[in-house]
Amino acid sequence: MSSTETVPAAPSLPADVRVGVIGVGQMGADHVERIARRIKGARVSVVTDYFREKAEEIAAGIPGCRVADGPEELIAAEDVDAVLIASPGAFHKDQAIACIAAGKPVLCEKPLAMNPQDAYAVVEAEKAAGRPLVSLGFMRRFDREYAELKDAIDSGELGQISIINCKHRNARTLPGFVDAMMVYDSAVHEIDAIHYFLDEPIVAVQAVLPVPGPRADEGQHDPMILLLRTASGRIVTDELYVNTDSGYEVRTEVLGSRGIATIGQEIARVTTQKPGGAWGGAIPADFRPRFVDAYDAEVQAWIAAVADGSLVAERSATAWDGYLAAAACEAAEAALTTEGFVPVTVLSRP
Ligand SMILES: NC(=O)c1ccc[n+]([C@@H]2O[C@H](COP(=O)([O-])OP(=O)(O)OC[C@H]3O[C@@H](n4cnc5c(N)ncnc54)[C@H](O)[C@@H]3O)[C@@H](O)[C@H]2O)c1
Repeated sequence: MSSTETVPAAPSLPADVRVGVIGVGQMGADHVERIARRIKGARVSVVTDYFREKAEEIAAGIPGCRVADGPEELIAAEDVDAVLIASPGAFHKDQAIACIAAGKPVLCEKPLAMNPQDAYAVVEAEKAAGRPLVSLGFMRRFDREYAELKDAIDSGELGQISIINCKHRNARTLPGFVDAMMVYDSAVHEIDAIHYFLDEPIVAVQAVLPVPGPRADEGQHDPMILLLRTASGRIVTDELYVNTDSGYEVRTEVLGSRGIATIGQEIARVTTQKPGGAWGGAIPADFRPRFVDAYDAEVQAWIAAVADGSLVAERSATAWDGYLAAAACEAAEAALTTEGFVPVTVLSRP
């Protein structure tokens, strides 16, 4: 697309924003449920999936929802005002660019793309469209604890921040979840959170790989530690362990000159149990229960932005944030096979 004239005008919206959902697997089905049952001002009008029967099963549970034959048909559909992309990351670039070309606002699940070149192409397409159309699903920006930590950093109450320690743990991953996905699908959340917290880019990444863990026979480096260095010289440790066989835990600890702040202490949020003298509480099985309020807030803010014409919510990650994250992921992936820090290469913003 070369000029703003080629971009269709924003659709005038009916009372409810009619959302089309691409990909109704784990995350897409969860978003369909939240839009249908909890989000105000929106309904799911069309769904599609690589496996049509999956889409039919989901549509059957949602009044007024129909199935489209593929992403192209869904994006072009007259009964779709805005698109939520929840297909695997490798398809996000083409589907997001198709939404931009159709002039439709899109909430794209993270990552924006599986490499910075593709992410940059989305940024360029949005720039050519002449208005913001892409919101990116980094939902931690909408989590209450993350927001409080961001406020504590911004207010200066923690003093000068020098180190941030992050932990990212999943119960297990599916076979075929290779190291690159551990970076682009898992670490990408901490990478965006660091950009969000500190308002400065990550400029170099180093990988620290311990002795092989539970998926060593599949060649997966799990657990792994990524060291991220930011533009002003802060250091972030991101400890990733995605096959713990227990539950989902993400923690962040910020070390400042005047204080230390920690979020993600499940113990503070769940009811602790004391059966038979033992002490403990439940660990969320995965990200859905842990971040349910954040996903709800993210999608509600997106719908509100679509309805009021601002198109991208103030707190939301943008296509540019997705590009910055992809650039840092590229360096992290290279760091897995390189000694020392690998610099992050970032192009100028179009
Ligand atoms: N924000 C978060 O916390 C979070 C959590 C989990 C997953 N995600 C992201 O959501 C996306 C989907 O992940 P998931 O766990 O739901 O995966 P999934 O495999 O469970 O679901 C993906 C679905 O997309 C369908 N699909 C595949 N190719 C397609 C195509 N070209 N067009 C349409 N549909 C297609 C698949 O059949 C499947 O039903 C990924 O980008 C992932 O990184 C985000």
